[in-house]
Amino acid sequence: MDTLLTNVFLSALFMLMFSVMNSAGVASILEEPICGPTYPPGAIPIYPDDVHLLQFSLNLEFLEADYFLYGALGYGLDKIAPELVMGGPPPIGAQKANLDKLVRRIIEEFGYQEVGHIRAIITTVGGFPRPLLNLSASNFATIMNNAFEHPLDPPFDPYANSLNYMLASYVIPYVGLTGYAGANPFLKGWKTKRV
Ligand SMILES: *[C@@H]1O[C@H](CO)[C@@H](O)[C@H](O)[C@H]1NC(C)=O
Repeated sequence: MDTLLTNVFLSALFMLMFSVMNSAGVASILEEPICGPTYPPGAIPIYPDDVHLLQFSLNLEFLEADYFLYGALGYGLDKIAPELVMGGPPPIGAQKANLDKLVRRIIEEFGYQEVGHIRAIITTVGGFPRPLLNLSASNFATIMNNAFEHPLDPPFDPYANSLNYMLASYVIPYVGLTGYAGANPFLKGWKTKRV
């Protein structure tokens, strides 16, 4: 893929990500019904209800981390941060993607960010072993076929090139960010909200 197309696509991807993140932030400032700007005296750091909401996100963080790390490096959490997977099985079918240099470096950074998210969640509310993830090309092909409501020919392969990889990357974190935006108003404790 030529560099101009890559840049245009990345800009669009970032703009979408930031707009979703901003709307989450704005909502939490304007509508914040429970958490004030400072911790009220006697505030509870972690409400029991918050734990499940954040732990739910952990599933997605595992998915994102391994998808990005494998795509960029050819290996994932088992090598980068084995203590975080807590004995969960390695992902099925994850592989290094055929990325151009710029995209590969950005995706590697995304991967390290996800490792940080996982660590933040686990140290705040505790974790669980990484679930079995199916990151095989054929699983992505199935998802894309369902999205298009007919089988693509040739089947969609996220690992084939930078554009395909970014299309699949777009599908994954979008679910995560909207999940956070949706869960944020329901988080009550300042410590879980900060995460
Ligand atoms: C992964 O997903 C693909 C496509 O849905 C499926 O064919 C394959 O059996 C799955 N692999 C495992 C080990 O479940």
